[in-house]
Amino acid sequence: MSEKENKDFLPDLQDSGEVNAISGFVKNLLKIKNPDNMLKQAQEGGLKKTLGAFDLIILGVGAIIGSGIFTVVGIAAVGSTEAVGAGPSLIISMIIASLACIFSALCYSEFASMLPVAGSAYLYTYATMGEFMAWIIGWTLMLEYLVAYIAVVSAWSGYFMQFIKAFTFLPHWLTNPPIYLVHDYSTVVSELTQKGLDVQANIPHFLGIPICVNLPSLIITIIIIAFLIKGIQESTKMAGLMVVIKLSVVGLFIIMGMLDINPQNWHPFMPNGFAGLFMGAFIIFFAYIGFDAIATAAEETKNPQKNLPIGIIGSLLICTIVYVLVALVLTGMVPIDKIDIQAPIASAMENAGKHFVARLISIGALTGLTSVLLVMMLAGTRILYAMSRDGFLPKILQTVHPKFKTPHVITLMAGIICILGTICINISVAAELCNFGTFASFIIVCVAVLILRKTQPDRPRPFKVPFSPFIPLAGIICCSGLMLYSMKFLKTSRLLFPVWIILGIIFYFSYGYKQQRKLEKENSLTSSGDND
Ligand code: ALA
Repeated sequence: MSEKENKDFLPDLQDSGEVNAISGFVKNLLKIKNPDNMLKQAQEGGLKKTLGAFDLIILGVGAIIGSGIFTVVGIAAVGSTEAVGAGPSLIISMIIASLACIFSALCYSEFASMLPVAGSAYLYTYATMGEFMAWIIGWTLMLEYLVAYIAVVSAWSGYFMQFIKAFTFLPHWLTNPPIYLVHDYSTVVSELTQKGLDVQANIPHFLGIPICVNLPSLIITIIIIAFLIKGIQESTKMAGLMVVIKLSVVGLFIIMGMLDINPQNWHPFMPNGFAGLFMGAFIIFFAYIGFDAIATAAEETKNPQKNLPIGIIGSLLICTIVYVLVALVLTGMVPIDKIDIQAPIASAMENAGKHFVARLISIGALTGLTSVLLVMMLAGTRILYAMSRDGFLPKILQTVHPKFKTPHVITLMAGIICILGTICINISVAAELCNFGTFASFIIVCVAVLILRKTQPDRPRPFKVPFSPFIPLAGIICCSGLMLYSMKFLKTSRLLFPVWIILGIIFYFSYGYKQQRKLEKENSLTSSGDND
């Protein structure tokens, strides 16, 4: 279109200056944060570079292995009220989920080696797609970490109840409490309904409101918040020990369980056909989440260009091998309709008569889940902190405790949100929502790699995704394919996820966007003052 034709086409808008306003608005949404400034900021941050490739693998395995393999594996095999399960074909589902992760992990590695800064996907997006997409990804990461926390803490509660049942000297009310004190509301309603009991009569009410509190989840969350507010120096040292315990109990399950495999249980291999296979892959994807947390340690890594990709891909490969073996043993030991959804791994041992091994597994699971709880809450609060520092969220969230020097306001707020979540959301919905959030951020990272290859082809890339653009495209296809396919079945989370995104967009335009412009004005006044 010629300039004249263009003018004819938009005469009113141009005259009224609206075109300028619209283009200014779009420019603001696309405003990127300069990657060089990010690197400079990170260098000035002066964090100690202490982590090597091995430390990163430990960190990764510590963040990855948790409720996914200790609890969600049961849901992926058996199914839930909204989705069919994979049955023994869970082994294939796990490989599909791990492929989606490996493609995305390669893209994460390219970014992490090029931009070793602490904000991970949020900052990668800020550097490539601009302010609006960075906000959306930050908002989605909040969902990933805080909702993952809710899923993991529900699993923790299940294993805790399984664990204390062994202490026969404890009073009966403690080892067998009413279900409304150990589950979320929707699980209580579905369990009572299944047993043919009246929901109203079996849950106490206060002023007409049903009282359902998952007490073990509440107590461990208070402890985690207290730890994080006090500072977690000691607990990071414990991370290595926790990983060893976690891997040992999973190894114990694989070895002891192999002796009880009945190959008959692997037939039929795909009881729910491809629907079960893909839904299993979607659900078990939850078990792989966490490797992206390694990228947040970029500023503390020695030789990050080499060590970050080794850490990310190494921890994913170890977990994939371990997970496939667990799926093989679990589905071989227990017929699909007998798998316990609350604590499948420990119950499988219990039912095989190996009570002592079951007890060890419960202890290991509790330890492993506690480390994931710490990582998830820490990562969630860090993202909130980074977004508040960038002016997207109210300044009060940056308040640091005068004595402990930790962001206690954010930690308390996140803790309260998670406690409310454990009352309202069940473990399957929490895991599904977390998966949606994570798939969305993986897709954006894969797209961002392709964009930066075009916009900044000469930027040094110590690690390059091989076979680009095919691998990033494969990541986009795997993640979006699983996400879209699962929406066919998951009625609750396919509704809640868009609601979360819409809330994020409303919040951005009513607060974050305005704050950004205010900050820009303040900065330009300061720099013009400096020039004077
Ligand atoms: N991958 C983490 C877990 O399974 C979220 O608990």
